Amino acid sequence: MESNQYGHVTVLLAEAVEALGVKADGLYIDGTFGRGGHSAEILKALGPQGRLLGIDKDPRARRTAMERFSGDDRFLFRQGSFADMASFVAELQWPGVDGVLLDLGVSSPQLDEAERGFSFMQDGPLDMRMDPDSGQSASEWVNTAKEEEISKVLWDLGEERFARRMAKAIVAARQTQPITRTLQLAEIVAAANPRWEKGKNPATRAFQAIRIYINRELDDLAQGLEQAFGVLKPGGRLTVISFHSLEDRMVKQYMRDIVRGPKTPKWLPVVDDAPPKARLVGKKIRAGETELAANVRARSAVMRVLEKC
Ligand SMILES: C[S@@+](CC[C@H](N)C(=O)[O-])C[C@H]1O[C@@H](n2cnc3c(N)ncnc32)[C@H](O)[C@@H]1O
Repeated sequence: MESNQYGHVTVLLAEAVEALGVKADGLYIDGTFGRGGHSAEILKALGPQGRLLGIDKDPRARRTAMERFSGDDRFLFRQGSFADMASFVAELQWPGVDGVLLDLGVSSPQLDEAERGFSFMQDGPLDMRMDPDSGQSASEWVNTAKEEEISKVLWDLGEERFARRMAKAIVAARQTQPITRTLQLAEIVAAANPRWEKGKNPATRAFQAIRIYINRELDDLAQGLEQAFGVLKPGGRLTVISFHSLEDRMVKQYMRDIVRGPKTPKWLPVVDDAPPKARLVGKKIRAGETELAANVRARSAVMRVLEKC
């Protein structure tokens, strides 16, 4: 297992890099650099002519990228969203790429460092932005959004069945005092939650929903999948690791639609001579027993792989 020196234990490390089928002289993108676990493994498989572009929204990821790989000419880094990868590829004048990896969601250091404001376990400023220099913080949003909007976000992005009660409680609480701390929000939400899954914190789903909303995670994913497929060369592979059902559903649907091609309206005769645009590589992959025993985060990980034709 990848060392924990950088604070993040990489999920499906060998499986993801193997699925990319790294060619020594290929061009690759790690769209979610994090702490560079997958990148390090990709670099091991690349020869002197190969190149790897790491992308991450988080300025801390940029710092790690510089610490770990600034001496390696084969590695480049751009701080930004993988939803913009086509423009990075164009700027680098790459003719296309041989593989893209997306290991979605947040890294362990983002969750574990209270100052980042993602955690309902430790007190910190209620921020939750992967890039703290851009967009609205979670605190700004919970203090200004309409009750219906909060309820919709908790319902849609957290699948939280007590979304309405929680939204009401948030709006009532902020009238007394602005909500600025993670534990303050966790307590408000927990008090409005009559029942939650065994072994989980009552604020888990609400925090997940707010984090996804603040970071536009599903919008980025939709755009990132399109762009990744667009920049792939024929034979190039897209490998995506998801951590919750909303993400995995989108990835599965996207890959399936590309493989099957556009739906023909029922009234048109089916013409089946269009060549396939892509094929699925194997079935979805989950972590094995050894990894599961060593890393709780791996429990929810699902990996899917697509190859462009
Ligand atoms: C699960 S971690 C990746 C860990 C990485 N594979 C490793 O081994 O260290 C997810 C990372 O993706 C970043 N991220 C999430 N969404 C992003 C997006 N749309 N664009 C760029 N980076 C994103 C997060 O900031 C976080 O650092």
